Amino acid sequence: MKYVIITGATGGLGKAFSYKMAEKGENLILVGRTMEKLNNLKTDILDKFKGVDIKLFTCDLTDKVSREKLFNDIKDLNLQITKLINVAGVDTQMAFENYTQEKLLFQIKVNLEATISITKYVLDLKNGQLDILTVSSLCGVTPMPYFAVYSATKSALINFFDAIRYELKGKDVKISTLMPGSIPTRQDIIEDIKKQGLTGKLSSKSPDYVVKVALKQLEKNKRHIVPGFYNKIVYFFSKITPYSLQSKIIAKKFSIKQKDAF
Ligand SMILES: NC(=O)c1ccc[n+]([C@@H]2O[C@H](COP(=O)([O-])OP(=O)(O)OC[C@H]3O[C@@H](n4cnc5c(N)ncnc54)[C@H](OP(=O)(O)O)[C@@H]3O)[C@@H](O)[C@H]2O)c1
Repeated sequence: MKYVIITGATGGLGKAFSYKMAEKGENLILVGRTMEKLNNLKTDILDKFKGVDIKLFTCDLTDKVSREKLFNDIKDLNLQITKLINVAGVDTQMAFENYTQEKLLFQIKVNLEATISITKYVLDLKNGQLDILTVSSLCGVTPMPYFAVYSATKSALINFFDAIRYELKGKDVKISTLMPGSIPTRQDIIEDIKKQGLTGKLSSKSPDYVVKVALKQLEKNKRHIVPGFYNKIVYFFSKITPYSLQSKIIAKKFSIKQKDAF
């Protein structure tokens, strides 16, 4: 049987991907840290969309042993994985000086190490067409003072998936990287968007919208996906504006706030 793997399935965007894939009749492998959250999500999805099979796996993605167990368990089930949707991510935001080693490594591990490691596991299990969608961020397009670790890990994802997309050309693999602006998923993000005023409003796209655009573009094997007109403009200008100017604007905006939801 065919399955779609979704990491970070119990988060705001992960849930939206999970519902949308179930609506499309896809069987799901949902990965999260808490079985209770996963069970609640499964029950709710099955209430709405009958007939799909949902398998749940808890995994601390920062832990190599936990990741290895996850993939040995999935391998034992002998399923065909048709899609991997890498959603899990940590958006801690603060001046680099204020990080502890623990927070620093946690964010790098979830955003980068785990995503690349899981992608390798899934590619090793590949049996037929495989589509890989990875959630990066518009923040990965430019180095961001006061959001440096997040922006660096998300940027590394863009580079990594661009590179392996080339390596895997002609091998029945689609690879797209999603770069959303703001998505009102958690309460702290919703408040943040409000505080940003007009630019927050223009950048903000609902999880459902982001998922709809992402899946449509993944189908077309689009390399980079930027949902929303305003975000496309930001993406374009970040490519042509001198970094000396960009860094000033970003630092002014981001030095006044701190986000530490994990
Ligand atoms: N919201 C935005 O404005 C925005 C914008 C651009 C990009 N993004 C990206 O979109 C993705 C989803 O964000 P979101 O807004 O939906 O945030 P969220 O609700 O906080 O979801 C984050 C997800 O990551 C999972 N996760 C974190 N640490 C983990 C670990 N050690 N092991 C396993 N799973 C772990 C969480 O699992 P638990 O449920 O177990 O906690 C949760 O499901 C992230 O990659 C984020 O960087 C978000």
